[in-house]
Amino acid sequence: MAHVNVFDTTLRDGEQSAGVNLNRLEKLEIAKQLERLGVDIMEAGFPASSQADFEAVKEIADTIRGCSVTGLARSNKKDIDAAWEALKGGADPRIHIFLATSPIHMTHKLKKTPDEVVETAVEAVKYAKEKFKHVQWSAEDACRSDLDFLVHIIEKVIDAGASVINLPDTVGYTTPDEIGKMFRYVKDNVPNIDQAILSAHCHDDLGMAVSNSLAAIENGARQIEGTINGIGERAGNAALEEIAVALQIRQDRYDFQTGLVLKEIKRTSDLVSRLTGMQVPGNKAVVGRNAFAHESGIHQDGVLKEASTYEIITPAMVGIDSNRMVLGKHSGRHAFKEKAKELGFELNETKLKDAFASFKDLTGKKKEVTDDDLFAILTDTQTEYEDQPKYQLKAFQVQYGSINRPTATVLLTRPDGTEVEKANTGEGSVEAIYNTLDDLIEADLHLKDYQLNSIGKGRDALAEVHVQLTVDGQKASGRGSAQDVLEASAHAFINAVNRTLYQKYRNEYKQVQV
Ligand code: KIV
Ligand code: ZN
Repeated sequence: MAHVNVFDTTLRDGEQSAGVNLNRLEKLEIAKQLERLGVDIMEAGFPASSQADFEAVKEIADTIRGCSVTGLARSNKKDIDAAWEALKGGADPRIHIFLATSPIHMTHKLKKTPDEVVETAVEAVKYAKEKFKHVQWSAEDACRSDLDFLVHIIEKVIDAGASVINLPDTVGYTTPDEIGKMFRYVKDNVPNIDQAILSAHCHDDLGMAVSNSLAAIENGARQIEGTINGIGERAGNAALEEIAVALQIRQDRYDFQTGLVLKEIKRTSDLVSRLTGMQVPGNKAVVGRNAFAHESGIHQDGVLKEASTYEIITPAMVGIDSNRMVLGKHSGRHAFKEKAKELGFELNETKLKDAFASFKDLTGKKKEVTDDDLFAILTDTQTEYEDQPKYQLKAFQVQYGSINRPTATVLLTRPDGTEVEKANTGEGSVEAIYNTLDDLIEADLHLKDYQLNSIGKGRDALAEVHVQLTVDGQKASGRGSAQDVLEASAHAFINAVNRTLYQKYRNEYKQVQV
């Protein structure tokens, strides 16, 4: 079976999803999990886009050893230089340069003639090749480009040194039949195509990203790009877990395989969902809550008699087990640390101390501590930025009654160490807490989005809250989990504020040339 490279762009295109704002530590956590998942290439970000992105890409490239780390760059020297500075410490550095090739983009966005576009692309690839061993070049909006122009520019960029040619369906417009023909045409007509790998990068605006990726593979693509859970710009990207599982389950139809460790899929999906705040729909293929649930009596009866009657994928294949109770109140630090490792978390001493304390606290409140609960504790935000001055929730109380206006009293430590206390009201308990926090926090705060979920099942399930705020005009997202909904809400709000403080702090004290 032929191998298809998996190029994961969860940390770049995925992070471009509206409302997603991962910090450096979260990106690193996801990168380590992607490495365990077995991706061949991970796109860690867009180094020239911001100082924060530069630093995150650099840290990931310097840390990850099991796969190639790449970063996005526009076709100019400044972006390519920034990418090199961020990626040069990587195990197998590569750059991803893009330039639009469709008439609509060349005319209205780039305002360049096709000849100028060819010249810019060739210059950029040549410049990048002086630094990078691997140069990937993307023809942005390839699927709405003229085929003969594509053939022409691809030949030139391969001559200039590109070894991967990516043909994105940037706006999710194409169909399986059309994208197949495009890949076939390029394969048959670019004279030096044997010196490059063809790659597909499909968006899901018409819900065809996965089918289009599979059609591209059947017509010559040997690299597929996508994200975990299909997150990404607008309607998202092709869901990598769906492509990998489709190739595995339909081996009778497809003669290709990826190197993904399928058992790591569920854990990767959970981590990405939790850290980005993008919930996986219950009916989502492969990783949705209901993907393996059989509701109708006829189906249940069939599955009990013979699972293959209605189950084409086994939950175990993608790493879903019964979420058994793993640790109890008598479990010690060592067992906790080992379990954390099994769940994919390497804990330093401070994090271990805090996470273990949260675990012990939880064993006193909850009958069963499940893998989901442990995952929540281990991705909790309260120990982030240990050395940084930050807001900390000391205590709060809410008075609620169906005929009274809810009132919250909050005691908070400010970044300068002073303790402050106030009370305020709201239409509901969460609003009362947020109004009070607004009074206590020295910034202009606006709540833009609020999401509440339960982690696991049962009355004693943990609550998880994701919020989006603007803090002094800057977008910020935050998350918090606790057994109580109101406490989780307060933590999420404070977490969003602390993130912007942290960014300010790093920008003030760290100087990196980009
Ligand atoms: O969708 C797209 O065209 C992209 C490029 C930058 C590759 O994400
Ligand atoms: Zn894209």
